[in-house]
Amino acid sequence: MFARAFARAVTRTATPRPATTNAIRAAALRRAALSTAAPSGGSSKIPIAIALIAASAGAYYYGVQSYPAIKQSAEQAKADKAAAAAEEEAPKEPEPLDYRKVAADIAELLDDVDYDDGSYGPVFVRLAWHASGTYNKADGTGGSNGATMRFSPEAADGANAGLDVARNRLEPIKAKYPQISYADLWTLAGVVAIKEMGGPSIPWKAGRTDAVSAAACPPQGRLPDASKDRKHVREVFNRMGFDDREIVALMGAHVLGRCHPDRSGYHLPWTYNPTTFTNAYYTLLQSESWKKEKNWDGPMQYTNKKGSGDIMMLPTDMEMLWDRTFKQYVKEFANDEQAWFDAFSSAFKKLLELGVQFPAEAQDIVLE
Ligand code: HEM
Repeated sequence: MFARAFARAVTRTATPRPATTNAIRAAALRRAALSTAAPSGGSSKIPIAIALIAASAGAYYYGVQSYPAIKQSAEQAKADKAAAAAEEEAPKEPEPLDYRKVAADIAELLDDVDYDDGSYGPVFVRLAWHASGTYNKADGTGGSNGATMRFSPEAADGANAGLDVARNRLEPIKAKYPQISYADLWTLAGVVAIKEMGGPSIPWKAGRTDAVSAAACPPQGRLPDASKDRKHVREVFNRMGFDDREIVALMGAHVLGRCHPDRSGYHLPWTYNPTTFTNAYYTLLQSESWKKEKNWDGPMQYTNKKGSGDIMMLPTDMEMLWDRTFKQYVKEFANDEQAWFDAFSSAFKKLLELGVQFPAEAQDIVLE
C-alpha cells in the first residue's frame, strides 16, 4: 500500500507541468541550493527516500506474504482450543475399576464387635448365595446377574429376611465406587468374606449388570426350604446344575454364622467358631449326637447334647448325614479339609457365575 502510494507520488511529480511553473520552481530550487549549504547528514534526502521505499516495500512484502500465515496460525489456535473444550466435555472413558481396592474396602467392613459374632462375613456369604441361588438352568432365569434382590418381590421374600443388613452394610462401597454393579458387589463381598475368615481364595470376575426393574425378578420359592427333605434339596440344586458332591460342598458354608429367630425363625449357630472358615460343619455333623430340640417353640430343628445343646442343625443339614451318597461326601470333607476347600471353591465360583454372560475381556481375580 505504502509502495503504491509512493509510486503514485513519484508519478505525479513526473507529470509535465506548465513551463512557467517549472521555470519558477527551478529557480527556487537553485536559490535554495545556494543559500543553504546542506549539512553532510542532512544532505541525504535520497537515502531517506530509499529507506522509505525499502521500508514500504518491506511492509508490503511482510503484509502480503505473512498475513495468511498469521491467519492460519490463529485459526489453528482456535481449532485447538475448540478440540480441547470438546475433549473436556466429552464423556470420558471410565478408568478401569481396581477390584482389589474394592475388595480391600469390603474387608474393612467385616469386623464389628456389636454385630452378631463380631463379623458381617457370614451374612455377606449368605447374600452372595441367595442372590445367585435362584438360577434355573432350564430357562436361564434368576442368578446373580441383575441384582434383582433390590426390588420388592425378592427383597420381601421370607427366604431373604435379614439380608437387608448385608445390603445396607455394603452401600458405602457402592457410593465410593459407583461404577461397580450391585450384582458384582454382592458376589465379590461373599468371596472377600470367605477369604478374610480363613477360607480359600475363590477366583472372581466382574461383568454382571444390574436389572432396571422388578420385572427381572425370578419367581419366588426357588430358594431351599430348611424344613424339607433330600428330595427337595436335590430338586433345588439340580435345577441350578449342581450334583451331589457339589451340594454337600456348598452346605459346608454353614460352618459360618447363625440362625436368627427374627429372620428364619431358627436359632443358634452350627459350630463353635462361626466366623472362621473350617471344615467343622462336617466334623461336628459326624461327631455330635443330634436330637430334635426340646423346649423350643420355633420351627423344628436339631441340637447336640441330647437336644438341649448350644449348636444346631437344620432338617436339611441332617439329610447330609441320612442320605447315603451325601454322607459319603460329608466323610470325605471331614477327613480332608483341603479337598473341601477345593470343592467348595469351584462350586461357589460356579454358583456366583450361573447365567452370567461375562464380557470377553473379563478375567478372574484371585485375592491375596
Ligand atoms: C438346603 C440348603 C440350605 C438351606 C435350607 C439353608 C438355610 C439357612 C437358614 C435357615 C439360615 C438361617 C438364616 C437366619 O436366620 O439368619 C441360613 C444361614 C446361612 N446360610 Fe444357609 N441354607 C442352605 C444352603 C446354604 C448354602 C449353599 C450356603 C452358602 C454356600 C449357605 C450359607 C449360609 C450362611 C453363611 C448362613 C449364616 C448367615 C448369618 O449368619 O447371617 N447356606 N441358611
